[in-house]
Amino acid sequence: MKRQLIVAGNWKMNNNYEEGRELIKKVREMLQPSQVLVILGTPYIHLMSAQSMTTDMSNLKLAAQNCHQEVSGAYTGEISAAMIKSVGADYVILGHSERREYFGEDDALIAKKIDTALANGLRPIYCCGEKLEVRESKKHVALVSSQLEAALFHLSPEQFKEIIIAYEPVWAIGTGLTASPEQAQEMHLAIRKKIGKKFGADLADGTTILYGGSCKPNNANTLFSQPDVDGGLIGGASLKADDFVAIVNSF
Ligand code: 13P
Repeated sequence: MKRQLIVAGNWKMNNNYEEGRELIKKVREMLQPSQVLVILGTPYIHLMSAQSMTTDMSNLKLAAQNCHQEVSGAYTGEISAAMIKSVGADYVILGHSERREYFGEDDALIAKKIDTALANGLRPIYCCGEKLEVRESKKHVALVSSQLEAALFHLSPEQFKEIIIAYEPVWAIGTGLTASPEQAQEMHLAIRKKIGKKFGADLADGTTILYGGSCKPNNANTLFSQPDVDGGLIGGASLKADDFVAIVNSF
C-alpha cells in the first residue's frame, strides 16, 4: 500500500501573530508541488489566518498542538476539538512529550483526547517515544509498544485509519542528538508490526509513521530513506522557512 508521506511542523510556543504570518508567507512561496503533504502545527491563535492564507493549497494543511478531552463546558482557558475544526484545521498533535512532561498528560488522558478529536473530525498525530534511560536499558521498543496500546488500541479499525504516528525519542527532541537512521528504522518497523498484529497488515502498511527529534535539512534524507520512515515531525527547523522546505524536499 502506498502511504501518505508527510512533513509536519510543530512550532511549539513560538511566533507572535505577525511572525507567524511572515513564516507562512515564506513557506508558501517556497513550496513546490509534490506528493508530500505538509502540515503546519501552529499555536491556536494562528490557525484562522493560516487557513485564509493557504486555502488554495491542496498539499498544505493545519494542525493544532493540543485539544481538550471534553467536548465543551466550564474549562477556563481550554480549546475544544470542535473549535479547532471550525477554523479549518484538520489535524491535532496529541501526546507530545512536552505535554506529558510539563502538563502531566498520560496515555489514559491522551486516549480520551484521541476519541474527542476523532469524534470532531480531527486526525490525531499521536506522539510516542522513550526517554534516554529507557533506551539505555534497552526497553525502548517495549515502552513505545505500551504507549500505543494504552492510547490507541481501543479504537476500531475505521477510527485507527485516521491516526498518524510520530515516533519522537525524548532524548532527541531539541537536543541536536538525532536518532540514527538504523535506530529510527528499528522502532518504526516495530511500531508497524505492533499495529499489524492488532489491526492487520493492510492497515499497518497504510499507516504514516513520522520521525521527530532534531530532524534537520542535513539528516532528513537519510532518515526518510528508511523503508518505514514516512516523513517527519519537525520542531526547531520548522521555524525557518528555508530549513523546513528543504526538509519537505528531502525524500
Ligand atoms: P526538534 O525538531 O526541535 O527536536 O523538535 C521535535 C519535536 O518535538 C517535534 O514535535
